[in-house]
Amino acid sequence: MSREQAKRVLYHRDFPLSVNILLGNFCNLSCPACPYHGSYAPSYFRQFDKMSDEVIDRLVDELPHYQTNAKFGGFEEPLAFKAGFKRITTALRDKGLGVHVTTNGTLITDDLLHTLQNLSTMYVSLDAHSIATYKTVRGADFNKVVANIEKVRQGFKGVKFGVSFIRQPKNEHEMQVFKDHWITKADMVIIYALLEFNKHDYKIDRPFLASPKERIVCSSPFLETYVLPNGDVSLCCETLLLTDRDSVPIMGNIKERSLHEIWNGEQYRAYRDALVDENWKIAAICQQCPLWAASYYETHNENGVKVTHNPTTEVLERIAN
Ligand SMILES: C[S@@+](CC[C@H](N)C(=O)[O-])C[C@H]1O[C@@H](n2cnc3c(N)ncnc32)[C@H](O)[C@@H]1O
Ligand code: SF4
Repeated sequence: MSREQAKRVLYHRDFPLSVNILLGNFCNLSCPACPYHGSYAPSYFRQFDKMSDEVIDRLVDELPHYQTNAKFGGFEEPLAFKAGFKRITTALRDKGLGVHVTTNGTLITDDLLHTLQNLSTMYVSLDAHSIATYKTVRGADFNKVVANIEKVRQGFKGVKFGVSFIRQPKNEHEMQVFKDHWITKADMVIIYALLEFNKHDYKIDRPFLASPKERIVCSSPFLETYVLPNGDVSLCCETLLLTDRDSVPIMGNIKERSLHEIWNGEQYRAYRDALVDENWKIAAICQQCPLWAASYYETHNENGVKVTHNPTTEVLERIAN
């Protein structure tokens, strides 16, 4: 396929397939492996920021026109922003949109149950199968999180529920028992490769479960986008780690222009062109990033379980009888 053909194929969306929304930049935990809130966090995650009702309402107005899905919990603990979380997820669900949440599960309280039980998907990040290992990798109360999961699951109304596990030396011995246990209880079990960030420049050091050889165009800037608490639209998750730097490409702000205009705007399109053309002068932050490899997917069935994997993630789903 020529570069021009590739561009036509990649550019067919005039609105993102999904929008990742950062309700704020705070987390109640400080997991050692976490690049945002661990022992050394980039400066953006060290000053408090929270999405305003104005930004929330703009998203609630615009996303339903395109039937686009919303994702929460990529970079912060979304349940720490309870009022904003309830406001936006309830409004989007009422308008028929898919809403996904990733949470550490520690802040599930009774007044959140109704909202959580009406989501479309919910992942709880566990990373352990024992009290001791959970304490080491997440520093919190394992039994409380498991009890929270049980409570919320009882009232699920069609929520697809997953638990996740970042595979790392501290918990590797529990990975198989974690899979065996949760594959019978959850809809999905997600295993992540540990992304290790170089603390000097925040480049990803060792991201892969298995590394593909040939570089392909990263699909992320063609499929999804990221809205920060102040309304800024960021190109991808790697750039969020670099928000203390001048070079971070912010594509616009939804308080000034619609997300549709930003997504189709000159700056976004020029950046996508640069990615396809491998013009690393313009797409400078993408040159070193290895996460393009996550755009490779493969699926196979294993003992009644569907296994989908790319170099950073493995997803197990029970096949219905
Ligand atoms: C940054 S967290 C934010 C949401 C929420 N606080 C949580 O922990 O689920 C989003 C996801 O990133 C994963 N994550 C955090 N640090 C990671 C790392 N170094 N490598 C791979 N995944 C990581 C978490 O396990 C979680 O599933
Ligand atoms: S709970 Fe999530 S956001 Fe918070 S420190 Fe752990 S991985 Fe990071």
